[in-house]
Amino acid sequence: MPATPPPVSFDPARGLAVLRTPGSVYALRVDADGSPRHLYWGAVLDPDDLAALPAAVSPAASSFESEAAADELAPQTGARFGPAGLQVRFADGTRGAQWTLTGHTVEGNELRLHLADRRYPLAADLCYRVRPGSDVIERWVELSHTGPDGANDSDVSGPIVVDRLDSASWTAPALPDYRLSHLVGGWNSEFRLHRDRLPVAETVLTSRRGLTSHHANPWLALDDGTATEEHGEVWSTALAWSGSWRITVHRDPTGRTTWTGGFGHEGLSWTLQPGESLQTPAFAGLYTAHGFGAASRAWHDHVRRHVLPEPERDRPVVYNSWEATGFAVDHDGQLGLARLAARLGAELFVLDDGWFGARTSDRAGLGDWTPRPAAFPDGLRPLADEVHRLGMSFGLWVEPEMVNADSDLHRAHPDWVVHTPTRDATELRNQLMLNFGRPEVEAWAHRTLDQVVREHDVDWLKWDANRVVTEAGWPGHPDPDRLWIDHVRAVHRIMDRLRADHPGLRIEACAGGGGRVDLAVLARTDQAWTSDNTDPVDRLGIQHGFSQLYPAQTMAAWVTDSPNAATGRSTPLRFRFHVAMAGALGLGGDLTRWTAEELDEAAALVARYKEIRPLVQRGRQHRLSAPGGVTAVHYAAEDGTEHAVLVCRPATRFGHRAPALPLPALDPAAHYLDLDEGATYSGALLARQGIDPRLPAGDYASSLIRLRRVD
Ligand code: GLA
Repeated sequence: MPATPPPVSFDPARGLAVLRTPGSVYALRVDADGSPRHLYWGAVLDPDDLAALPAAVSPAASSFESEAAADELAPQTGARFGPAGLQVRFADGTRGAQWTLTGHTVEGNELRLHLADRRYPLAADLCYRVRPGSDVIERWVELSHTGPDGANDSDVSGPIVVDRLDSASWTAPALPDYRLSHLVGGWNSEFRLHRDRLPVAETVLTSRRGLTSHHANPWLALDDGTATEEHGEVWSTALAWSGSWRITVHRDPTGRTTWTGGFGHEGLSWTLQPGESLQTPAFAGLYTAHGFGAASRAWHDHVRRHVLPEPERDRPVVYNSWEATGFAVDHDGQLGLARLAARLGAELFVLDDGWFGARTSDRAGLGDWTPRPAAFPDGLRPLADEVHRLGMSFGLWVEPEMVNADSDLHRAHPDWVVHTPTRDATELRNQLMLNFGRPEVEAWAHRTLDQVVREHDVDWLKWDANRVVTEAGWPGHPDPDRLWIDHVRAVHRIMDRLRADHPGLRIEACAGGGGRVDLAVLARTDQAWTSDNTDPVDRLGIQHGFSQLYPAQTMAAWVTDSPNAATGRSTPLRFRFHVAMAGALGLGGDLTRWTAEELDEAAALVARYKEIRPLVQRGRQHRLSAPGGVTAVHYAAEDGTEHAVLVCRPATRFGHRAPALPLPALDPAAHYLDLDEGATYSGALLARQGIDPRLPAGDYASSLIRLRRVD
């Protein structure tokens, strides 16, 4: 039997690096000029085929074309004219890098190629990691100023300015056409999936806001234009970064498509002094042979197994008071809501904005994280204790990166905010942003949050961020653009420390809804507040986009009041529930205004959700249809026994009966019991012909179908 090839290998004689995952192979070659260049990314190839692979070259050889294959990280040197993922300037004004491979390391599933510039004190490690059982490949770069001793020539030391350091450049194979799938939106309309033909041009996906952003998410997928949920090859990537970012997709006229991406937006620079280094976040890539559905399931699996801190813990049914009470919070009102929430089966009560400082509106108090005496005369502990007695965990909203000008914190430390003294400060939602890049501000934030958690017996923090970066100055700092990186790293660090110091503490990521959802924030949080828009019809589109990359257990989804606060649309309670049950279910309405019948119906639906929770939160998700007509999502237990299908049809049309829903994930050789109707069906019938979606008549119709494999 031939030996199984290792997951990661490097052959120095041929300069050939190969990464193998269960369903894909990735290969690159270090060329004679020292540059690592892309060779292959796609379905599994055997080692002989790989050795025979020619390097891709541009078809038209002339003095105006580069003949070489795409770089793994393109420097600004030589005949390279595409977007450069590495842009550096040395003290003498020279740009770019000319590499020599100085060595490599293979440790477990990780490969590092050690590169050094031939003349300047610059070194780069290109890093690659695969994980057992996963087709996701993670890539990042560590760039170092190797100091005066690292220079081969003593006249070329001095600081190195880094204008761009991407995590990786990815290359798709030659395809007859290219289509780009990506997520765009805005506040209240995050994660809208767009699927467009890729133009022969450079297409930039970016956030310049200092947050991941509502407007674009750092995920994309490429296919040849024919892939579907079930079929076709898909190449997709996701950047693990929670600040500004930029991904440039370059389709050239000869048909080559590459994309380079990393942290920071254009125009920022960082200076490396001798001995300093800069490490990028990971940019993960995934090849899938079986359509967008399989790609999403592979990402979900990756997020669960390698990103989330506690994937096996049930996400609790939360009650959050924001839509019910806004800033008008006080002990008695919150306790009343908590009692009702407990009656409905909520497992966590979150007191949202308005509990602290002089926070009676969004004009004052941010930064002063002590309970507002008029609202909580004895502090928060009595409420926390009552909530615990009711059998729920206690959660608190915080927005630690932000400050109102009208706050004691800002009066004491006006210099702590991100600002440019010679420019007018832009207030967004009447607030300014603290510069967490400053060590004393990071220390204050950590200390304050630690105290908040300890003093009020907090089990859960909803960490919000309701503005983005403007006037991005750091007066007095020699390298002020570091703010864009250092702030984000400090946020991550504080979350990590809080979790480490308070085992059991859970954190929900929020930034005015889904403004900061990415693989880096999910590495230290349990779920994300998907959108401030809780209208169930709008949510169907938001959830569809969210699910392309992120698993349902991270998608917080509340049932709120009707008519909806954001859209004014009225929908039945059952429809609102069925939409929200597709994620981490929560409740967010003013329960004091719900009728006894509504409260009973809600309690029954919460109980039903708890039954299907293991499937939704830890099963495999199959999107049966995209929003538009009937939207349906199927959750299957990993072992294939239990199944739940949530079906929603916002608008009915005369004569258009909802068609049977095929469930292609079922085993055609098995039989399935319908747990509600008692009938048994063959898997072949359900997979091919489908199941009746059982939608009631009228608009906002929905159903939940539960199946169990019986043989
Ligand atoms: C943001 C959040 C909301 C709520 C408010 C409070 O908009 O997304 O859920 O917490 O802030 O001000």
